[in-house]
Amino acid sequence: MSAAPKSADLVTVNIDGKDVAVPKGTNVIEAAKLAGVEIPHYCYHPKLSIVGNCRMCLIEMGMPAVDPATKAPIIDAATGRQKINWIPRPQIGCGTNASPGLHIRTNSPMVKDCREGVTEMLLINHPLDCPICDQAGECKLQEFSTNYGRGYSRFVEQKNVKPKRTSLGPRVTLDDERCILCSRCVRFCKEIAKDDVLGFVDRGSYSTLTCHPGRKLVNNYSLNTVDICPVGALTSTDFRFKMRVWFLKTTPSIDPESSFGANTELWSREGVVYRITPREHNEVNDTWMTDSGRLLYKQILAPERLPVLSITGIETNLEIILKSASRLLQTGQVAIVGSGRSSVEEQFLTKKLADTLKITAHLVSRVGQGDGILITADRNPNVRGALVTGLVSSLPDANDIKKLPSWQQTPAAKGTAATRVTTGGLSALAAEIDAGKVKVVLSMGEDLLAAGLTPAQAAKVSILFLGTHLNPTSEIAKVVIPTLTIFEKNGTFINQQFRLQKFAKAVPGSPHAADDLVMLSQLIAAVGGGTLPSEVNALWPLIAAEVPALAGLSYAKIPATGVVLDGSPWAHLAFVEGETLHFKPAAQPAVATA
Ligand code: SF4
Ligand code: FES
Repeated sequence: MSAAPKSADLVTVNIDGKDVAVPKGTNVIEAAKLAGVEIPHYCYHPKLSIVGNCRMCLIEMGMPAVDPATKAPIIDAATGRQKINWIPRPQIGCGTNASPGLHIRTNSPMVKDCREGVTEMLLINHPLDCPICDQAGECKLQEFSTNYGRGYSRFVEQKNVKPKRTSLGPRVTLDDERCILCSRCVRFCKEIAKDDVLGFVDRGSYSTLTCHPGRKLVNNYSLNTVDICPVGALTSTDFRFKMRVWFLKTTPSIDPESSFGANTELWSREGVVYRITPREHNEVNDTWMTDSGRLLYKQILAPERLPVLSITGIETNLEIILKSASRLLQTGQVAIVGSGRSSVEEQFLTKKLADTLKITAHLVSRVGQGDGILITADRNPNVRGALVTGLVSSLPDANDIKKLPSWQQTPAAKGTAATRVTTGGLSALAAEIDAGKVKVVLSMGEDLLAAGLTPAQAAKVSILFLGTHLNPTSEIAKVVIPTLTIFEKNGTFINQQFRLQKFAKAVPGSPHAADDLVMLSQLIAAVGGGTLPSEVNALWPLIAAEVPALAGLSYAKIPATGVVLDGSPWAHLAFVEGETLHFKPAAQPAVATA
């Protein structure tokens, strides 16, 4: 978390007659916000360059008057205070930063008149779509027209007709008549997504947003333009007309696509998730997230979701499953394959199970190309959790990853090119199976075949599979226990910054799925490891007591912005991440590339 600014870094500005201390250089719109004053704006966005083209933020500005020759303050005889030299014309707030003595007026007749004029002009060609527009409930044009508009229009001519329902790319639909030409989407693509694909054609009131000739808005960040479009011009093709936003409740979550750990919000109603959007975190993802991460909610109701508890493909009940699983786990020739997709709490209990069975766990690595923005090369969200909890003490061998033949496709990380992700890390387990030392493998949701076991090796062992979706391993597993997706449970991940971040349950789990923590604690009890808590809040006192890096923490105490842990005990490891937004890897041992 950023430290509070020192008083030396603060400057005093006067906003509507009140002195306010704000950090030096703060944009005037943000300074007013700190003082509880709203300056309406469209084109300004704190994470984008300033263009000053919407004019909605017009205010009055002035500076304390000084004698040009002596620099002595000029005192107003009527008030006894230093005179303010007000600029005679309105100024844009977004184009000015706080400097000592700056005076602004946001509620004068001139400012009111400006806002009414700008609003009237923006509405001239804006269609009356509000009753059917997806932006309703989140539309700045609607809100500012109500709060700062004149309330009527003097425009009697025909409105311009522009392209409607234009597909800018696979995930974004444009209604050009609603566009107020603020250029936020244009700047986002150029400055953040590094994909300069949008621009305006034609002039004046005929100006129209479009893609550059021959281009489409296909980058993996395209849906951020929908988030920042202040009106309903850009909408998510996936979410359009699905649900009114005021019916949805939000639940904080984390993007599980990689170790980046983007903060997200799940929007759900009556047990159904309708969309995922970014949650602002200025030290992790700012206000952005990937398109691929937004569509992950579709996993919840995917047809590949594991349907029932089963033994050798035959549906059974929990009691029989537990008996069968404990019998298998007590054969003395057992291996556990942990997962960097499991939560810290699940990894802690997986470690307890491994300790009870007196074995060490394996971990599946999942490596792809980082995109330098919000996707890292480590496609597991929580490898650091496995290190911190002691589930594993080192990273899977990089050479082990490289040798693996199986590839999985993930959504495009940048442009249209799909990014390949390799999974691996099980060569030691494969050798143990070949040597006849392992006869039973418990997989925490990992596809053992994709991670390096050959079908012949997998056929030599009895597999217990705890996971959410069908995969080649679940299909050959002896015991299958369906579990919960990240959207259906509470937990924590540790991202590449060693930041412990929590996610919360948004919707109830599938009725056929078991909670991973409940299953792990029952398996531990079944093999003689004693009774352990199986709920996140109840488990944390034990975690805090036994995991040195997490001492003194509890699930409830972890703030929304997370807690940065001391990662120095693992600094010697060759983590695969490169530079991304708000992250620069420390100098590390090089990953072998032979
Ligand atoms: S589409 Fe939206 S974000 Fe893009 S210029 Fe128009 S109003 Fe602004
Ligand atoms: S917000 Fe200042 S001109 Fe648009």
